[in-house]
Amino acid sequence: MKTSNRANFSKLGVILATAGSAVGLGNVWRFPYMTGHNGGAAFILLYIGCVLILGIPGMVAEFVVGRHGASNAFRSYASLSRSKGWGAVGVLGVITAMIILGFYAVVAGWCLQYLFASFSGSVLGDPDYVADYFKTFSTHPVKPALWALAFIAVTHVVVTRGVKGGVERASNLLMPTLLVLLVGIVVASCLLPGAGKGIEFLFKPDFSAITSSTILEALGQAFFSLSLGTACLCTYASYFDRKTDLMKSATQVALIDCVIAILAGLMIFPAAAAVGVNPDSGSSLVFITLPNVFQQAFSGIPMLGNVVALMFYALLSMAALTSTISLHEIATVFFHEELHLSRRAAATIVSAICGVFAVVCALSVGAVPGLRLFGLSAMDFGDTLTSQYLLPIGSFFTCLFVGWVVPKGVVFDELTNGGTVSLRIYRLWLFAVRVVCPIAILLIFGHQLQLF
Ligand code: PHE
Repeated sequence: MKTSNRANFSKLGVILATAGSAVGLGNVWRFPYMTGHNGGAAFILLYIGCVLILGIPGMVAEFVVGRHGASNAFRSYASLSRSKGWGAVGVLGVITAMIILGFYAVVAGWCLQYLFASFSGSVLGDPDYVADYFKTFSTHPVKPALWALAFIAVTHVVVTRGVKGGVERASNLLMPTLLVLLVGIVVASCLLPGAGKGIEFLFKPDFSAITSSTILEALGQAFFSLSLGTACLCTYASYFDRKTDLMKSATQVALIDCVIAILAGLMIFPAAAAVGVNPDSGSSLVFITLPNVFQQAFSGIPMLGNVVALMFYALLSMAALTSTISLHEIATVFFHEELHLSRRAAATIVSAICGVFAVVCALSVGAVPGLRLFGLSAMDFGDTLTSQYLLPIGSFFTCLFVGWVVPKGVVFDELTNGGTVSLRIYRLWLFAVRVVCPIAILLIFGHQLQLF
């Protein structure tokens, strides 16, 4: 049953808004940095395996809960079972989303800084200058925190304008433009002298580089990138209409997401090899590699490097925005519907909490190095806690819930839209959700904790 004040996404809007949530810094910033950290091609294979075997079934499971519940994450889970306790999975998703929004806004803020610095061309220069620029900026006591807050403020404005006006329109324009620009930069990057080693790093697997933490990191990256495990997909699915084919939509979104991540890899590693940046440079990788590409590959035509840099950071900021909107929306709609607050008041609470955490994360990168938890900066702690623990845990319980608790008739109906999707696919998916996903997630955790 749908509550009457819920807007529905249009058919194209379903894909674009969900892909808008999925595609973001996870693809362009996090995927290259994780791939570089985990030795390249072998990590990518694991990542693709996680997307296909665990990601797509998990996405569909969240869609089932969201579309049927047609409410915020907590109520969707609670309404589908006799025990209200399952609502806790939705609440966990809300908490996870707010933690992610906090550190994500910091990286999104870095993009804004680079966008504005691109106007004057001050981010472009030789490799030492570019690396230095990042270090000086990211450890500044005020600037990164202000940019992060600015990003949250923009997200706040879009979210308070409502889902349909804000989210759908923002996603419509972005995706195709981003894709075209990425392809252009990939070509430029691969043509740089010395780029071959980077291409090899991406496509020639070295399986000896795989450890138990590599597998968990691949799983975490897959879930983070697909926006899985935060109840984000569940919240967005509450805006889907009855005709949306859940399986097809999940597959399309996963495909778009993977293609953009691989393109981002093809943009970064050849360039990193060409200018001598270490692929294992951590979270700064994209920021200390790309300005070199803009500077060197486009130097033939005056100002072209500046224009490409400007377009790139503008689009990346937009891609990040469609993701932060989804993170914010999960929590806003939860506070709005459960605490009976106005949408504006609910959004203000979310922005305030996430804003404080974003400032802590921004400072922990360098200005106040003491802001650490379990040996990690607050920023890295938020990232590791969510992607490697909370997202897989959220998805684990969602799969158990949909596979074993939700009445079978409901699940069948949601997945097949009243019988229009093939029975074979339904059975295969159900097996993945009931058995494969929960066991695989447990095994990966167990292995990481060295239980076997
Ligand atoms: N998937 C987004 C990205 O890749 C991040 C995100 C995670 C968004 C979880 C929503 C929920 O940038």
